[in-house]
Amino acid sequence: MVRAARAFSWDDLARYPEPGYRELKEEICAFWSREARLDVDMVKVGNGSGIVLFRLAMLFLEPGVATLGYMPQFPDWVAMVGVVGGEYDGVALDPAEGFRFDCQAFLARLALRPYPLVYIDNPNNPTGQLIPLDEVEQIARECERRDSVLIVDEAFGDYVDETCSGVNLVERYPNVVVTRTFSKGMGLAGVRVGYGLMSHYLGEFYDRIDVPLYPVSGLAVALATASLHDRRFLQNNRVKMAEAKRHLLDRLVAKGYTVARTNDSCSIFTLGDRDREVDLHAELLRQGILTTAGRNFDNLGHNYVRVNTPQHPGDFLARLEGQE
Ligand SMILES: Cc1ncc(COP(=O)(O)O)c(C=O)c1O
Repeated sequence: MVRAARAFSWDDLARYPEPGYRELKEEICAFWSREARLDVDMVKVGNGSGIVLFRLAMLFLEPGVATLGYMPQFPDWVAMVGVVGGEYDGVALDPAEGFRFDCQAFLARLALRPYPLVYIDNPNNPTGQLIPLDEVEQIARECERRDSVLIVDEAFGDYVDETCSGVNLVERYPNVVVTRTFSKGMGLAGVRVGYGLMSHYLGEFYDRIDVPLYPVSGLAVALATASLHDRRFLQNNRVKMAEAKRHLLDRLVAKGYTVARTNDSCSIFTLGDRDREVDLHAELLRQGILTTAGRNFDNLGHNYVRVNTPQHPGDFLARLEGQE
């Protein structure tokens, strides 16, 4: 990464960036070559995957049009749906089942009314739960049958193996869009680069609203492109994350907290206090631990928080035990 920054031609900052992002798109296609045969026209780059999602909301939703998701999930998506006037319906996951994603319940809800756009985040934000690819495919198939577009938001996808990714479906399901970001597992949130992968068919519609007003900066593109060369970084990250997370979760469960279903190597998880009256966010903050309050998410009470697994959980645990 540092090498890519050093090699960057700083004179280029005087010019607008190349709007086609050809080199980055080619790297993205190469990165996914084991999962799908992609070409550059199937890759849509934006200032973070958030802007790609927003464009999709603008494209497919309007007042009176509903989208289906599940709860809890990425609240900014729910907000984007509201901004464009769409209606958000969410299948509530059951706390008694550790917020397990219930594919059959989701498929049943799809049948209840037309949903031109369906959204799942996978792994899920805030639980870090991973929906298995065969279930994502069942949803993709049902969406195709119903003429719906399925967004698989894989912002946290770099924490799990590429074989689990919805990218494996993009070639076979022209109605599937997978969004990815450099912000999470790649560690480049401040750089602001993300992308969507979609069929040529959907891409043509997307291009109509992808006005090149806010291109991604040349430096950001150079750093994102370089990060795709370092698969070892991603793999090491997953191993280290799984180790730290296992250690932390074991201790938290031993202390009586509940933990929603979560993937071993995904950086986030949802922690709960069995006492519904407890404001867990405030309580942890008093102990010097910053989390995201459950009340920011539909279907999570204030006795829940989202935790970002720290690299060294010792400090977290020491604060929890009042040793700092
Ligand atoms: C599920 C999910 N999707 C998308 C995003 C947007 O990420 P970015 O715009 O940084 O790519 C986030 C960021 O928190 C997220 O959690």
